[in-house]
Formats: sequence, C-alpha cells, structure tokens
Amino acid sequence: MSIPAPDLAVPARVRRLAGDAELVPAWRNDYGGLTFQAADAAGIRFIKYGPHDPETSMADEAERLRWAARFTPVPRVLEAGSDATHEWLVTVGLQGESAVSPRWIADPATAVRAIGAGLRALHDSLPVGECPFQWGVEQRIADAAARGIQVPDDVRSPPSVDRLVVCHGDACAPNTLISDAGAWTAHVDLGALGVGDRWADIAVAALSTGWNYGPGWEEALVAAYGVPFDAVRMRYYQRLWEAT
Ligand SMILES: Nc1ncnc2c1ncn2[C@@H]1O[C@H](COP(=O)(O)OP(=O)(O)O)[C@@H](O)[C@H]1O
Ligand SMILES: [Mg+2]
Repeated sequence: MSIPAPDLAVPARVRRLAGDAELVPAWRNDYGGLTFQAADAAGIRFIKYGPHDPETSMADEAERLRWAARFTPVPRVLEAGSDATHEWLVTVGLQGESAVSPRWIADPATAVRAIGAGLRALHDSLPVGECPFQWGVEQRIADAAARGIQVPDDVRSPPSVDRLVVCHGDACAPNTLISDAGAWTAHVDLGALGVGDRWADIAVAALSTGWNYGPGWEEALVAAYGVPFDAVRMRYYQRLWEAT
C-alpha cells in the first residue's frame, strides 16, 4: 500500500469516469486497487477502482458511506458501479490529507494524536442502535470461513465486550484524513463499517502505527483515543485482524 508515482497508467474505465478532469494517482492498495484524484472546474472527486474484492465490495462501501454520512464526515457517494472484473466508487473530495502522506509520516506525534482523536469522535458520533451493519467477532469469523480462512481455536473465544460502538472496520492510519493544522477532518474506506467492540478498531489503528510510523506509538494512540490501555483486548483484536 502506498502513494503511487504520478505517471501511473490510468485504466480506461477511470479515464471515462473522470471525463475531462485532470487525474492524479492518490493510492495503490495491496489488492490491485487504485484511487485517483480527479480535478476540474466542478471541484475535486476521488475515483476508487479495482478488481472485485472478496472481503468487501464497493457497493457495500457505498451503502455504509450513505448511512454514516448523516452523522460524521465521510466521502459523499456520487457513483458506484461494477463490471465482470472490476468495481468503482466515485466520491466528493474531502478536506484533509491522508495520515500517511509524506508530511504526516515526518510528524508521527501529530498524526497519531489525530488518528486517536478521530477514531474516538467517529465512535462517539455513530448511533449503535440505528446501525444496520455488523462487525462483531462471530460475524467476522463466519465471513472469513466463507472465504476459506479458518481462524486458530484461541481466536474463537473473545474477551467480554468493553463498549459496543459502530466500528470503522479498517481503522488503519491511511484512512484518517488530517488538516494542515494537524486535526483529523474525516474518515474514508468504510466498506467494513459495523457494530463491534471499540477495541476492534483501536487495536487495528494501533497496529497500523507500527506499519506506518515505526514502533512505539501504540500507547500514544490509545491515550489520544482517551481510554486506559487494555493489553488483553488489544492483543486479542490484533490477532483477530491478522487471522481473518
Ligand atoms: N473522498 C475522498 N476525499 C479525500 N481523499 C480521499 C477520498 N477518497 C479516497 N481518498 C484518498 O484515497 C486513499 C484511498 O482511498 P480508500 O478508500 O482508503 O481506498 P483503499 O481501499 O484502496 O485503501 C485514501 O487513503 C485517501 O487518501
Ligand atoms: Mg484505505
């Protein structure tokens, strides 16, 4: 996963979706998916395009974005579609830069604080009782089994729930956007959003600080979120993430 070179070839579908807009590559994920920024007189859009993903579809993501947009800043969906091999999602560009842009990689303390505070704000704003999507342990283990992945036995017995929230579902650092001033502005990539223990998200956000900023940022992340460090739930949900 990384920010691609500016001369990356533009897939024909993305070119068609962009019309006359100027395209700049924004992101390449590990599954062959690409995101482009498209700019024209009407403003900035993001075009996410990639092969069908067995874990989450962009149609699922569009449904979750439309639901969450009523409560918290997330991309507004303009268009979602698919053909036999690929799918795409076009959204309105949001303020802020990914927490793994070169600028924020160079300032992990600010980025980690924004990611923790942003995750807390997301959890505090999304209403569990109204959420039609699930991201609980049983559901995740069943979804993994449907993809042919069997989790180890010890992962089948989770710790008790600390607090049920609507989880982001992929709270990795790149999915928080940060303002020039260093505050979180929005969340992207909500294809797995659903109800689960808040530690399911905190654990992944913490794990991703290691991938993106190096070791030693997990405590700062948890402090910015604003809960006492819970080593048992942290370890369990990191294991569940890695196992599924
Ligand atoms: N509407 C948007 N506004 C601003 N940036 C966006 C928007 N949509 C996507 N991005 C940027 O593109 C990147 C990739 O989008 P994302 O949905 O996270 O795709 P992936 O599933 O490949 O990680 C994000 O990390 C973010 O930097
Ligand atoms: Mg992402």
